[in-house]
Amino acid sequence: MSIVVAFANQKGGVGKTTTVVNIARAAITNHRLTVLVIDADPQGNATKVLAPNHQGSLPHSLATVIGRTAHSPISTAAVASDWTGLDVVPSGGDDLANAAQDLVTMTAGRESRLKKAITEISDRYDLILIDCPPSLDQLPINAFTAADALVLVAELGQFALDGLDRLLDTVEVIQEYTNPELTIVAAIINDVQKTKRMDYWMRELRDSIAHLPEPVPVLDPPVQRATFIAEAQESGQGLDMWGTVKARVLHQTYADYLTSILQSIKNGENRNDSEV
Ligand SMILES: Nc1ncnc2c1ncn2[C@@H]1O[C@H](COP(=O)(O)OP(=O)(O)OP(=O)(O)O)[C@@H](O)[C@H]1O
Ligand SMILES: [Mg+2]
Repeated sequence: MSIVVAFANQKGGVGKTTTVVNIARAAITNHRLTVLVIDADPQGNATKVLAPNHQGSLPHSLATVIGRTAHSPISTAAVASDWTGLDVVPSGGDDLANAAQDLVTMTAGRESRLKKAITEISDRYDLILIDCPPSLDQLPINAFTAADALVLVAELGQFALDGLDRLLDTVEVIQEYTNPELTIVAAIINDVQKTKRMDYWMRELRDSIAHLPEPVPVLDPPVQRATFIAEAQESGQGLDMWGTVKARVLHQTYADYLTSILQSIKNGENRNDSEV
């Protein structure tokens, strides 16, 4: 059975796709896992980085897997990336936005379409990573319903925490109605600059997360702002391929993040087992 992890924040541009791409890379290299990235964002940024020949409207994509007139098994939509051990379900671009819109008018089962689709391939991958869009519509709802765990990707700053409450409310609703097992296993802080102001915002973030019913670990160290991160991503290279010490160190940080995430999921499963 694969482990399914969704990466989310309804705020745009905080580093969700960057985190998914780099954790996927660490998963296939350091952890030696077989990985599927599902691009659940009509912007298609994960597709652009990992499967650039499969952008936009396609005969088979996430849009045709979960759309109202769904006709693609997810195994048909998955394509090989340039990285050995990593497949991608391309988003389908605008088709995915339209498919999500169509789901709104469905009477039943709309939240579970991705979950149902994933069951077909759950013995094929060790790890499935879902890159969520910056919204709280049917796409993240499908992702949260399908996921074993959710990783919050956040940046620091005056507006960074705005909207976090809405995301957490959505998670609570999902836990109540469609996925009682969903846990926020970690917060990854991205794009940090070393200033006193950042220390202040880091404390604010830790404070707001500390008040949740289940404490969410903030993974250390946070990811600094660095041009090579964007450059490596734009050129489709893993940080381990980039050729600088800083990039290799950051690659290891993402591998360590994945170790923590997998450990938290395992601890949660053990806790649930002992409660039965
Ligand atoms: N730590 C960082 N240092 C420098 N650039 C970064 C860093 N993290 C992300 N970026 C760049 O910032 C931009 C936004 O990042 P990314 O696409 O990962 O965010 P996102 O949360 O997925 O955005 P969206 O909500 O639009 O999907 C990208 O161009 C990315 O390369
Ligand atoms: Mg993104």
